[in-house]
Amino acid sequence: MHPILNVASIAAKEAGYFIANQMRNIEQLNVEEKGRNDYVSEIDKHAEKIIIDTIRKYYPQHSILAEESGAHKKDSDFEWIIDPLDGTTNFLHGFPQFAVSIAVTEKGRLMHGVIFDPTRDELFSASRGGGARMNNYRIRVSEQKTLKNALLATGIPYYNFEFADAYLACFKEFMLQTAGIRRPGSAALDLAYVACGRVDGYWELNLKPWDIAAGALIVNEAGGLVSDMLGGDKYLESGNLIAANPKMMKAMAQVISNTIPKEYRA
Ligand code: IPD
Ligand code: CA
Ligand code: CA
Repeated sequence: MHPILNVASIAAKEAGYFIANQMRNIEQLNVEEKGRNDYVSEIDKHAEKIIIDTIRKYYPQHSILAEESGAHKKDSDFEWIIDPLDGTTNFLHGFPQFAVSIAVTEKGRLMHGVIFDPTRDELFSASRGGGARMNNYRIRVSEQKTLKNALLATGIPYYNFEFADAYLACFKEFMLQTAGIRRPGSAALDLAYVACGRVDGYWELNLKPWDIAAGALIVNEAGGLVSDMLGGDKYLESGNLIAANPKMMKAMAQVISNTIPKEYRA
């Protein structure tokens, strides 16, 4: 295992176990609403501190972009992109689907990613060129060929409702054409599930880099494709993303471009 991936895994596990332990105290937590339906608790912040302290111990000169504390810029080719708790709304309701997500870029290129689900003890990880793993097992995307038999994951808009109708038109089309759609509530785990074939594809708009950086690399390393919604690879910038096994990407992209106007996909 690459030393950077090793440190990312240690940090993700330490933060993840801390979060899972706090599930017993959900009622007592201080929760702020950063924006409409956008919550942050003291747990998100403390988990982020655990991760940053671990990174700093080994790589004090690397830059960090973390959801809750923002950019910690250094003169370095390396940047760590951290979502300390992806699925905060689930966590605050005691709904056990959330994860820690950590990615590392070198000169802007995704090189390492880990996603840790502490309630199932599942660590998804990848380094560029080295394949993807769940714990010690190699993982691959599914072999599903058609939308007809596919199980998809998505994220339903919850604070920006500008494109609600467009999203629902797209949702309806997938509802009619597939075996089913899930809204698990953690973008990082949605991507991890594409990578290990639990779902055949995933789409969501309006995401942030820390939601998807680790997951995108893990999907690619598991043999899957990740695209923005204009057919390019600018998903970290646009926040609009499709991930699927290679056989299903075209059909998913087609449904999305037929139903969501370009202005919302850009
Ligand atoms: C959210 C989750 C959710 C997705 C949202 C994200 P957070 O992250 O990944 O599944 O639909 O777009 O913002 O706020 O819980 O870290
Ligand atoms: Ca997130
Ligand atoms: Ca978060």
